[in-house]
Amino acid sequence: MPISSTHLLFIISIIPVAVFAQSCLLLSGSFACPAFQQYYIDVEGLRAKNAWLSNATDVPSFDQALTQYIDSTDYYRIFWYDKLSCNAPSASQVVPYARYAITKLCTELVQDSQFSLPCSFQHNMNPPPLCRETCDAYVDSLNLTSSMGEPCVANMATIQRNQTLSDQRSDCGSWPGLNGTTDQGCIRGSLNEPSNCHGSFICGEIGNIFMDGFRMKK
Ligand SMILES: *[C@@H]1O[C@H](CO)[C@@H](O)[C@H](O)[C@H]1NC(C)=O
Ligand SMILES: *[C@@H]1O[C@H](CO)[C@@H](O)[C@H](O)[C@H]1NC(C)=O
Ligand SMILES: *[C@@H]1O[C@H](CO)[C@@H](O)[C@H](O)[C@H]1NC(C)=O
Ligand SMILES: *[C@@H]1O[C@H](CO)[C@@H](O)[C@H](O)[C@H]1NC(C)=O
Repeated sequence: MPISSTHLLFIISIIPVAVFAQSCLLLSGSFACPAFQQYYIDVEGLRAKNAWLSNATDVPSFDQALTQYIDSTDYYRIFWYDKLSCNAPSASQVVPYARYAITKLCTELVQDSQFSLPCSFQHNMNPPPLCRETCDAYVDSLNLTSSMGEPCVANMATIQRNQTLSDQRSDCGSWPGLNGTTDQGCIRGSLNEPSNCHGSFICGEIGNIFMDGFRMKK
C-alpha cells in the first residue's frame, strides 16, 4: 500500500516519541536481569556514568555488555584492585565473582533515580527495592571472596578494604533501592540468579577454594 500524505504526517509526528522511547529500555527477556523484566532502564542516560554501556542499545546487547563488564579487567581494576586491595591486574586475570553482584548491578541500574526510575514511572511501573538480605549476602560474599586465595588474599587487612566493606554494608541498610523488606515485595537475588554458576562463569576449577556464595572465572 502506497504511503499517503496522512501516513507521512503520522510518521513525522511520532518520531520525537520514538527517539525518547528508545532511551527507555524495557528489560523484557533479559537473561542478566530476569527478575527485572517488567522495569525500564534509560541506557542513554546511564551511559554517562557507565561507559561499559556504550554499545548497549537493546536487551541482548545490554545483557552482553553487563556480563562482559562484570568479568572484565576494567571492573577488576576499579573495584577488586582499587576498592578491595586485591593484587594488581595481570594479563591472565582471574576475576572473582561475589554472589549476587549481577543482581546488585541490575538493581542499581533500574533504581537510578535520575534516569531509569522516570522511565518506569512513565510506564506506571514502580520497581521494588532489592531485599536487604540479598544485599547483605552480597557483602558477605565480597568479604569472603576478597579474603580467600588468589588474587586477593595477601592484602586483605588494608584500611581501604575495611572501608569498602563497611560502606557496602551500610548501603544495604540505608539506600532505599537496596534495603527492601518482604512487605514491600522486595526482589530476591535467588530469583534473579538462582545458580551460583551460570553463563560463562566456570565453577570449581581452582582447587577447593570454591564455596557456596562465590565463584571465579579463569
Ligand atoms: C564497543 O564496540 C567497539 C567496536 O566493536 C569496541 O571497540 C569497543 O571496545 C566496545 N566498547 C565496549 C565498552 O564494549
Ligand atoms: C580491618 O578490620 C578488621 C576487623 O574486621 C580488623 O581486625 C583490622 O585491624 C582492620 N584493619 C585495618 C587496617 O584497619
Ligand atoms: C568480614 O568478615 C570478618 C571475618 O569474619 C568479620 O570480622 C567482619 O566484620 C566482616 N566485615 C563485614 C563488613 O561484614
Ligand atoms: C531504607 O532507607 C531509607 C533511607 O535511608 C529509610 O528511609 C528507610 O526507612 C529504610 N527502610 C528500611 C526498611 O529500613
